[in-house]
Amino acid sequence: MPYVTEDNLTDVVMERWKDIPDPRLRRIMQSLIRHLHGFVRDIEPTQAEWAAAIDWLTRTGKLCSEKRQEFVLASDVLGVSMLVDTINHRRPSAATPNTVEGPFHVPNAPAMADGGNMAQGAPGIPCFVTGKVHGLDGEPIAGAVLDLWQTDGEGLYEDQRDVKGPWMRGLYRTQADGSYVIRTVAPIAYTIPMDGTVGELMERTDISHMRPAHIHFAISAPGYHGLVTHLFQRGDEYIENDVVYAVKEPLIVDFVKRPPGKAPSGEMMATPFYEVKYDFVLAKRVEALAAAE
Ligand code: BEZ
Ligand code: FE
Repeated sequence: MPYVTEDNLTDVVMERWKDIPDPRLRRIMQSLIRHLHGFVRDIEPTQAEWAAAIDWLTRTGKLCSEKRQEFVLASDVLGVSMLVDTINHRRPSAATPNTVEGPFHVPNAPAMADGGNMAQGAPGIPCFVTGKVHGLDGEPIAGAVLDLWQTDGEGLYEDQRDVKGPWMRGLYRTQADGSYVIRTVAPIAYTIPMDGTVGELMERTDISHMRPAHIHFAISAPGYHGLVTHLFQRGDEYIENDVVYAVKEPLIVDFVKRPPGKAPSGEMMATPFYEVKYDFVLAKRVEALAAAE
C-alpha cells in the first residue's frame, strides 16, 4: 500500500473499501467516499471549520428523540427528503404526485363519517374538501381510506397543542362512486421548528423557513399504489419557496370563499366557509411499477 499524499488519499481509501461483500453496501460506500472527499477537496475546510461541523452534527443528534427528528429536518431543508421521495414514487404523469410525509403524522386517526368534522373545537375558518378518488382509467375507487392531518387555523398541529385526544386529523372512506366529503378548518402557513440546529443554520441565510398552508393526505386502496401527499392553498405567500420543497403544481388548489348558507355536506353554515374540490388519481400497483422502470 502506498503511503498517503494529498493526491492519492481518495484512491487509497477507495481501494480499501472496494471489496465489501454486500454489493449494495459496496456501491453506497464507494459513492459516499467519492462525493465526501470531493466535497472536502472543494471547500478545503480549516481545522476549526471541520470541528464546527462535527459539533453541529453532534448537537443535531442530541436533539433527536421520540418526539423530534432534527436530522430529518436537516434532510428536509436541503431538499434531500423530497429527492428520496421523488425517486421512490415515480408514477404515470396522470397520477396524483407524492410529497414528503413530514413529522406530524400520528397513526390511528379517528374514523369520520362522510362529511364529518375533523376540526371539532379547533380555531379557524370552516373548510369543506370534496371530490373523488379514482384510477388512471377514471374508474371510481370505493372504500379508499383518506387519512388526513393538518394544522388548525392558528398553524398548530396536535403535537404542538396541549390537548388530550385527536386534534386536526381524521380517517375518511370514499363512497361507492369514489366520492368523499371532509369538513375541517382552513390551515395556515407555518414555520418549521427553528429552536434547534437547523434553525441556527437557517438564521444565517435569507432562506424562508415557512411552509405554505397545506392539508396532508395519506390515501390507500387495495390494488393501488399508496399515496402520501398534500394539497396547497393557491395564492399562499410561501407557495413559491416552501422550505421543504414539497410543492408540485398539480397539488395547488383553490380555496374558494363561500358566503353563509348550504355547505357541501348539506349542513347550513351561519358563517362564511371555504370550499376545495379535488380528485385524487391513484395508479394501480402494476402501473406504478411500469413507470418506475
Ligand atoms: C410538515 O408539513 O408537516 C413538515 C414537513 C417537513 C418538515 C417540517 C414539517
Ligand atoms: Fe405540514
